[in-house]
Parts: sequence; structure tokens; C-alpha cells
Amino acid sequence: MKLGVLHPGAMGVTIGAALKASGHEVLWLKEGRGEETVRRAAEAGLVSVPAIGELVGQCAGLVSICPPHAATAVAAAVKQAGFTGSYLDANAVAPATARQIHELIGDTFVDGGIVGPPALRPGTTRLYLSGHDAEAVAGWFSDDVLGVHVVSGPAGAASALKMCYAAYTKGTSALLLAIRALAEAEGVGPSLLEEWQRSQPDLSARSEATARGTAAKAWRFVGEMEEIAASFTARGLPGGFHLAAADIYQRMAELKNDAAPDLEKVLEAILHQRRD
Ligand SMILES: NC(=O)c1ccc[n+]([C@@H]2O[C@H](COP(=O)([O-])OP(=O)(O)OC[C@H]3O[C@@H](n4cnc5c(N)ncnc54)[C@H](OP(=O)(O)O)[C@@H]3O)[C@@H](O)[C@H]2O)c1
Repeated sequence: MKLGVLHPGAMGVTIGAALKASGHEVLWLKEGRGEETVRRAAEAGLVSVPAIGELVGQCAGLVSICPPHAATAVAAAVKQAGFTGSYLDANAVAPATARQIHELIGDTFVDGGIVGPPALRPGTTRLYLSGHDAEAVAGWFSDDVLGVHVVSGPAGAASALKMCYAAYTKGTSALLLAIRALAEAEGVGPSLLEEWQRSQPDLSARSEATARGTAAKAWRFVGEMEEIAASFTARGLPGGFHLAAADIYQRMAELKNDAAPDLEKVLEAILHQRRD
């Protein structure tokens, strides 16, 4: 099949590569994208097309894999360009957002959620799918680098699973960084580390690793935390945990292009944006 990926980011390029390894020709849309995306797509052997009309005209299926805050706009652009094929939204969005995109796209919509890092080797990364055509879209992937699982339930179920998973992983990362920032602001950082050493011996190293691992991606996590908060409030549960996490990641967004972020820089970014 000819399939398209919108867009080959860090995760998207590995989804494109998995489709290519499964025997498909994989196209991507160059318009509007930056140098890093162009480089990644070229290295993976994906075929660039200059305009959205060409992408939708040639592809039988599309995978949307972009920053969560852009997922609805990407779907709207595809629909406006007249696409009628299978459309997999694999973004970290709330079930309600997935259902809105379902309404926009129509019956060919398949809901997806990805758990794990970019899929570079087997066993690390799972793509969950739900909705009417989920089995058919699962059949696009025959390469074993990506684990593909159909979740029972309608469109929105795969996104719900992703929201629950990331609520813990990225939520606790933000919480740890907020705690380190508070300890720093109160001048009790060394004392907290001493107490952690006694009673929570993994938290010191974990907060440092979290700072290094999340700083460059924090700008993208803001939208994801807002989608998680919306998932909670839509079911009458408190969304405040993840709105606070969104605030922490927003403060870190200035580190997007920092080549070597560490805990010190992260705490500085969080603390210099203190509010009353
Ligand atoms: N990376 C992970 O470990 C991971 C894990 C699980 C799920 N995911 C999900 O996968 C999706 C993509 O993540 P990623 O890691 O590939 O992100 P990424 O590396 O930041 O790449 C995002 C891609 O989308 C493009 N993009 C940037 N701003 C955009 C906008 N406003 N509208 C449309 N496209 C835009 C970027 O192009 P330019 O930068 O060239 O403009 C780039 O090609 C997200 O929904 C994320 O939650 C990622």
C-alpha cells in the first residue's frame, strides 16, 4: 500500500520506518516542516511530497503523529483536502478529542495511542488501536519492531489507555521536578536529599534523570497534560494534578533547544517563572 505519515518527528519517523519494513511505500508531507524532520525522513527512506493534495491523492491510509495540540488541526486539513481513506490518529489526546476527530474524519477513523520510546528495536514500544477498522490498520504492520495491540471498545479506548499510562509517567515526573524546585526555593534541597537517601533512595537519581530526559520535550508535554486533565474532568474526576503538570512543563519549554539540559537548568527555568 501507499501510506502517509503526518509527520516524521522522533516517534513518527519510526512508525514510518515500521510501515516501510512491513512492505509499504511511505510518503510524508514536506510543506511547513523543519530541517530535522527533513533529515529524519530522508534517513528513513520516506518519500516526500510537496503538498497535501498530493499526499491525500496518493495514499490509501494516513497516520497522524504530531504534537497533541495539533492533532485536530492536522485532521481538519486532511479532511479539507478531500481524504477518504483510513485515518489513524496515534497522538496522545483525550478520548473526547479522539471522538471529535472521529466525527470530523468519519467511519474510516481509527483511534491510536503509543506507549514507549521511538520504536528503534523490538520490545520497547506498543501501538494500541481501537475502533471499527482497528484490526485492518493493525494489519498494516507486519514488522516486529512495533508491538501492535487492538483494544476492545470503540474509538477513544486506545486514547483513554494512553492517557491513563502517561498520567502516571509524565505526571509523576512533573511532580518530582516541582518538589525539587520547592525544596530549592525553601533552601532545604540538601536536607531533602539526605532524607530521601534514608527513606526513598531512588528519588534523587530519578529526579535528575527526569530533568535530563524531559527538558527538551517539555514544550510538547504541555498539550498532553492538558489532554490528560480534560480526560479526568470529562469523567467527573479532578483534572488539577495534570493542569499543574502542564504548568511545570510550560515553564521548562524554554529548554527545547538546550543541547545538555540538567536538573540545575530545569530548576532555574521552573523557579524564575514563579507566580504569586
Ligand atoms: N517521542 C516519544 O517518545 C513518544 C512516545 C509516545 C507517544 N508519542 C506521541 O507521538 C506524537 C509525536 O511525538 P514525536 O516524539 O514524534 O514529536 P516530535 O519529535 O516533536 O515531532 C513532531 C513532528 O510534528 C511536527 N510538528 C511540529 N509542530 C507541529 C504543528 N503545530 N502541526 C503539525 N505538525 C507539527 C514536527 O515538525 P517540525 O518540527 O519539523 O516542524 C515533527 O515532524 C505525540 O502525539 C506524542 O505524544 C511520542
